[in-house]
Amino acid sequence: MRIDVVSIFPEYLAALELSLIGKARQEGLLELAVHDLRDFTTDRHRTVDDTPYGGGAGMVMKPEPWAAALDAVAGDGDERPVLIVPSPAGAVFTQAMAYELAEEKHLVFACGRYEGIDERVLEWAGERFDVRPVSLGDYVLNGGEVAVLAMVEAVGRLVPGVVGNPESLVEESHSDGLLEYPVYTKPSAWRERPVPEVLLSGNHGKIARFRRDEQLRRTADRRPDLIEKLDAATLDKADRATLAALGYEIRDGRVCPPA
Ligand code: ADE
Repeated sequence: MRIDVVSIFPEYLAALELSLIGKARQEGLLELAVHDLRDFTTDRHRTVDDTPYGGGAGMVMKPEPWAAALDAVAGDGDERPVLIVPSPAGAVFTQAMAYELAEEKHLVFACGRYEGIDERVLEWAGERFDVRPVSLGDYVLNGGEVAVLAMVEAVGRLVPGVVGNPESLVEESHSDGLLEYPVYTKPSAWRERPVPEVLLSGNHGKIARFRRDEQLRRTADRRPDLIEKLDAATLDKADRATLAALGYEIRDGRVCPPA
């Protein structure tokens, strides 16, 4: 996979040289380049922003440097790269979106700062890119860089070969619509807290059931919105009993919250 990131703070993306993503770059699994937007300006001051038409607080990123930068990274035109524009006004980034993006050949991330990028850039870019404004969540960051770090990590680790043991991708939070079960390691008793006994039993069926119940309980407690999105057809008898004990009812294939 090829990834280009355009930012006025390229140093921010240095973290992508570390850990699994850094290793994947060294091994050639990810070809990742970071570009300084200011290298695409033409004035002495390397200006990237200006005041907003219509007034209001803050500054807006000028279209010209963005067009030059996107022209430089767009590729030869055979492919249609995905242009991800991190923004609190975007669609919310999810694990499902990470899986979708992991299938792409070429991702370009455009890191906005200030009040954002002149809207015409995104309209114009639509001719060559599949443009996707994406938000990390309902809060406001100072710019897109932190969001790009998160998205590149979430997408990059799904690219085949990046994570050594692909099984660890299967049993993790959100992959089956539930949060992950709690994990424990040695010692078996620590500060008077024993590890749940079933995990020491060697009974794989019981362990799987315990973990699944913990997923259901934890998700009901922390993310009840995810429980309501479950397809009842994917729930076995024991799942249903656990959900019933938590006060949920299954009606018309849907999991309904306690009244
Ligand atoms: N830029 C500023 N806030 C953001 C957010 N919540 N998600 C993605 N990019 C952003």
